[in-house]
Amino acid sequence: MKPVSMTAFYCCAIRAWDAALPVPVLGDQYAARFMTDEARQIMESYRAERYPNAANVVRPRIIEDAIAAELTRNPNHLVVMIGAGFDSRAFRLPAGRFVEVDEAAVLAHKESRLPTASAPNPLVRVAIDFATESLADALAPWRGELDVTVIVEGVTMYLSQADIARMLAVLTVAFPRHGLLCDLVTGKFMARYGAGIRARIAQLGAHFGELVDRPEAVFLEAGYRSSRQWSLMRGVRDYRAAPMPWILLASLLRPGVKGSQVWRFDYGPARSG
Ligand SMILES: C[S@@+](CC[C@H](N)C(=O)[O-])C[C@H]1O[C@@H](n2cnc3c(N)ncnc32)[C@H](O)[C@@H]1O
Repeated sequence: MKPVSMTAFYCCAIRAWDAALPVPVLGDQYAARFMTDEARQIMESYRAERYPNAANVVRPRIIEDAIAAELTRNPNHLVVMIGAGFDSRAFRLPAGRFVEVDEAAVLAHKESRLPTASAPNPLVRVAIDFATESLADALAPWRGELDVTVIVEGVTMYLSQADIARMLAVLTVAFPRHGLLCDLVTGKFMARYGAGIRARIAQLGAHFGELVDRPEAVFLEAGYRSSRQWSLMRGVRDYRAAPMPWILLASLLRPGVKGSQVWRFDYGPARSG
């Protein structure tokens, strides 16, 4: 079995630090329990990365706020997370059915610390070797469902455009109508602001995939419509995740405001009513 991706611990550590704050941005009280002693020690040196960490905790908050309306409209709404890592939405959100897809090692560790059976909402964890196994097979039990949000979070920057296109081809067949929430970063953004974080990610044994300047293009080509974007830099300010004076956003950081965003895409016929 492959070891647990250190990038999964990276996002988890940031959520655990956030949860310990007096006024957290996300408040994921489960994050800390996934951290091993080794991961905790490795991640300690990442605490100082104030802005990347702030963006990293704003991202799940934006995504959760975005699905809240779906869960209110339909408490039975299906939420499918591809590369779920140590996400704990099935335990924290008030409704929904949840599917977590990730590598076996991630899900085995997760199960040992937060068992599926203890989730207040229906939850299924599906182990997959992304490199060799079929995502279509993993999603087969839910194929054809029509009230679905797929979340692909903290994942696309590690993939090639061809990998993303293959994933989207599977999703669009499995779910003829769905929303897709996904964070996308542009090549320009990474070139301008990402040298430090690229080096940090490399220390964790991961490497960015193929970063392009129109990361949304592969989604549009797959037949998705883009319906909304949320800038992570603006989110850092709006959710007060780190000091972000508007003058900085309007000047030095301006070229980056749209370079790292959460996108909502929709596929298939629009929902009536
Ligand atoms: C940076 S972590 C993000 C985890 C989680 N979504 C979060 O935001 O905390 C990336 C996750 O993607 C998983 N992963 C690896 N290869 C993948 C692939 N080809 N497609 C989707 N996810 C993949 C890893 O196992 C890891 O858990």
